[in-house]
Amino acid sequence: MTAPAKKIRPLVVGNWKMNGMGAHLRELRRLNTGLSKHKFGCDVAVCVPATLVHRLSTMKFGAKIMTGGQDCHGAQKGAHTGDVSAQMLKDAGAKWVIVGHSERRTEVKRGGHGETSKLVREKVLAAQMAGLRSIVCVGEMLTERKSGDTLKVVGAQLRQSLPDTCNAPDIVIAYEPVWAIGSGLTPSVEQIGAVHAHIRKALTRRFGDAGAAFRVLYGGSVNPSNAAELMAIANVNGALVGGASLKAADFSRIIGAYRR
Ligand code: 13P
Repeated sequence: MTAPAKKIRPLVVGNWKMNGMGAHLRELRRLNTGLSKHKFGCDVAVCVPATLVHRLSTMKFGAKIMTGGQDCHGAQKGAHTGDVSAQMLKDAGAKWVIVGHSERRTEVKRGGHGETSKLVREKVLAAQMAGLRSIVCVGEMLTERKSGDTLKVVGAQLRQSLPDTCNAPDIVIAYEPVWAIGSGLTPSVEQIGAVHAHIRKALTRRFGDAGAAFRVLYGGSVNPSNAAELMAIANVNGALVGGASLKAADFSRIIGAYRR
């Protein structure tokens, strides 16, 4: 039986992907100003390109927008040209790092990096060692959804990507169906509810009562119009937002789903 979800403080995360120059950080200043006017029952983080992590982390935000990176290497340091370690992100001021995003899991010939769940697990461990919190992404492709394999695929990614030493404050799961990312398509409320219930069950089975405390985010075409409906689904504890996190006006309306 799935343990009843305890009071979980939701988390809304922006993922800027490969977008944003220094000047774009003014959007976050605007976001901060907007957020300071109201009370919200959620945490907020923005995962910016590695080039902006330090600058974002040194901006003074009363509304507490936390800084995150978008990926890290599984090793602490070494001969890995162009890569960034979890320790480096931490040193630059990050509190969070996204790992296992589908845009990195995708095969190289399709523009991704071919990352496996085993590699994602190494990255989670590296983040833990560096004192960074990880947002671990899982999600099925459209072909897998159509063949009825969604729960199997998501379950396997979850099992293989998470180390045994997981605890709820430091690890957040993000369910992002690959076909919903940047497409304007979202699964139905029932479909999202079914996957999130499956993830919750898998977490409680593996981690006992602690499994009920993990935040499980939904990501994929979240926008100001659908945020309230999606965030109200059982076991959805926040959102991972791509395109709509680039503009303060849109992102603050999404965070507004948790306005008190
Ligand atoms: P969109 O919100 O642009 O669909 O992107 C979702 C995503 O990939 C966030 O990590």
